[in-house]
Amino acid sequence: MENNRRPETMARITTPELAASFIEEQLQAVRAQVGDKKVILALSGGVDSSVVAALLIKAIGKQLVCVHVNHGLMRKNESENVIEVFRNQLDANLVYIDATDRFLNLLSGVSDPEEKRKIIGKDFIEVFADEARKYDDALFLAQGTIYPDILESIEQAEGKKAVKSHHNVGGLPEDLKAKFELVEPLKLLFKDEVRTVGRALGLPSEMVDRQPFPGPGLGVRCLGAITRDRLDALREADAILREEFANCGLSKTVWQYFVVVPDIKSVGVKNDSRYEGWPAILRAVNSTDAMTATIEEIPYAVLHTITKRIITEVPGINRVLYDITPKPTGTIEWE
Ligand code: XMP
Repeated sequence: MENNRRPETMARITTPELAASFIEEQLQAVRAQVGDKKVILALSGGVDSSVVAALLIKAIGKQLVCVHVNHGLMRKNESENVIEVFRNQLDANLVYIDATDRFLNLLSGVSDPEEKRKIIGKDFIEVFADEARKYDDALFLAQGTIYPDILESIEQAEGKKAVKSHHNVGGLPEDLKAKFELVEPLKLLFKDEVRTVGRALGLPSEMVDRQPFPGPGLGVRCLGAITRDRLDALREADAILREEFANCGLSKTVWQYFVVVPDIKSVGVKNDSRYEGWPAILRAVNSTDAMTATIEEIPYAVLHTITKRIITEVPGINRVLYDITPKPTGTIEWE
């Protein structure tokens, strides 16, 4: 536990120079730790796993095996971007597993939010573990653990209770736990420092400055039992929201913004005919630690553009609603 505590003397990494010296230290440390053995990493494309991947590619090149599992609940083009950046630009050893059918079949008919989270988390580990077992010469598992994760597990060990079971990648199966030694180069860093290190490693801003995205992905935003058509509608509406936030600059200032699609339909009209559809609910919140959140006041003109685009471009959606509930009482995600 001792080397999991950030020393009080450790300087905050706030500049490219400080990031460069942190990177240099970690390159040496990782090479010394892993020698010529392979290292496996579950690369979701989130900030933390992406920064670990970029750091390890620099340290050990193709000895790193990145495994990207697409659970079918990613945002539009997300897996494609991971492949583009890591395989095409950084020449990483990247295994891409499209497990969409497997996840959506397991989730079929499941409406309880905690059960959905559990299925996604457990299945994710199974898919990843099946892949990891294929590498006899991999003795190390890299993880994008950061300092707030360490603090959270200390709190959990002290018996503090969470509102939702957030932790997606719970325990690995025993055989892999016994086999792998962990490589966690970011474990003493706060999020802003991870981003500074990511920039210094040359990762693109879309990756380093990404908003938080839950491990179960769109699974907790496609409310109730997930169906492919509603999930597709959610993904398209979410892409429009993100595009319009980027167009008006809100993507640079708003902490988290997304679309939720509930499992209810209302009556509408399109081309003079009755058109029953789902509502798309817009959510845009500001926060510093996700424990509380305030609402971002989206300008009416932006809301209008987003609404117009969603109702014309997304099949199945016939209304757009704007959720202005702070946390508390509403959690950031609806499930
Ligand atoms: P809530 O909804 O509890 O969310 O206000 C707080 C923050 O956590 C994210 N979140 C999750 N992250 N796995 C995650 O990794 C999850 O199951 C999960 N649920 C919520 C949420 O997006 C917000 O940033």
